[in-house]
Amino acid sequence: MTMEKFRWGLIGPGRIAENFAQALTVIDDAELYAVVSRNKQRAISFADKYSAKTTYQQYSELVVDDKIDAVYIATPHRFHYEQIKLCLEAGKAVLCEKPLTVNAAQSQELMNLAKAQGVFLMEAVWTRFLPIYGRVKTWLDSGIIGEVKSLDSNFGFCVPRDLDDRMYNHDLAGGVLLDMGIYNVTISQWVYGENPQSIQASALLTETDVDEHTAVNMSYSNGRHSQFTCSFLVKHRNDFCIYGTKGHIKIHDMFWCTSDATLVTETEKLTISEPFRATGFEYEIEEAMSCIRAGLLESSIISHADTLATMTVMDTIRSQIGQKYSFE
Ligand SMILES: NC(=O)c1ccc[n+]([C@@H]2O[C@H](COP(=O)([O-])OP(=O)(O)OC[C@H]3O[C@@H](n4cnc5c(N)ncnc54)[C@H](OP(=O)(O)O)[C@@H]3O)[C@@H](O)[C@H]2O)c1
Repeated sequence: MTMEKFRWGLIGPGRIAENFAQALTVIDDAELYAVVSRNKQRAISFADKYSAKTTYQQYSELVVDDKIDAVYIATPHRFHYEQIKLCLEAGKAVLCEKPLTVNAAQSQELMNLAKAQGVFLMEAVWTRFLPIYGRVKTWLDSGIIGEVKSLDSNFGFCVPRDLDDRMYNHDLAGGVLLDMGIYNVTISQWVYGENPQSIQASALLTETDVDEHTAVNMSYSNGRHSQFTCSFLVKHRNDFCIYGTKGHIKIHDMFWCTSDATLVTETEKLTISEPFRATGFEYEIEEAMSCIRAGLLESSIISHADTLATMTVMDTIRSQIGQKYSFE
């Protein structure tokens, strides 16, 4: 028996939406069904490229299309809150790009709404679904590197200083923490499985009040810690190292989208690889589809509590570095 195809609607056919649409092509029981853009020609071109059947020019039209099973949102962070709300109010399941919202209060409000509406909501933290992270989890659970005490990671590239681009643009919720540091935070939270007890952060802010270079030290229970730097100014190593009492695990450069990791103990050094089937987005898409088909309101891999914990950490960091958006 063939299962009916799962039909995705897309809000924001820009840069990252390409990775989503390409990933859908390797999922047999899913299709890109509809695309909405404020720019009619952009919607048509994207739909043609990925054989989507329908295009819209108004977001409010897409969310009431009853053929759509779920909506993927890939617009700049600032718009996530209002677009998720629009979808949830129309009863549409949502997979939304990271960060889910600009701050924890907005996320909490949307999670409450999703529950009240009985609708699925998930932040698209694709890294957590990559196969190599499953292998790293197996190493961690086996205790092969002993007790994990220290995490060290960075995420940095030299990003052209264009204050109109969403990376730097204050009105689009630009800044390196929400865009890149979110991965360092969310993987630290995943390794330790708890929230930090204290946080110390410092940053360089632009004249438009977005952070472009942020350094953070997070302390967890039993003296464990995680330190990271995220930057628009320097090209970092971009790996994520997990240090234990008997060895360490290195998740390779670029840790948020890698297929490789190395285990180092006193007796062995082992590098493994778990290549993607497509762009790597296929794993989070499959998880969202499976949860929605099972009638779940959230994923256990990126749960609402996980997203909220990450957002709360980022709120604390932003308050310490004095970075606040004028529209918050
Ligand atoms: N998972 C990942 O690896 C990854 C990587 C990069 C980005 N992201 C996330 O994906 C999201 C989108 O990033 P992107 O670089 O793909 O964005 P983008 O290409 O700059 O924009 C995507 C869409 O957002 C809408 N948009 C852009 N600027 C807008 C504005 N000033 N006002 C209203 N709408 C605007 C446009 O929709 P219309 O077509 O309707 O005009 C555009 O098609 C971000 O939240 C980012 O964090 C994730």
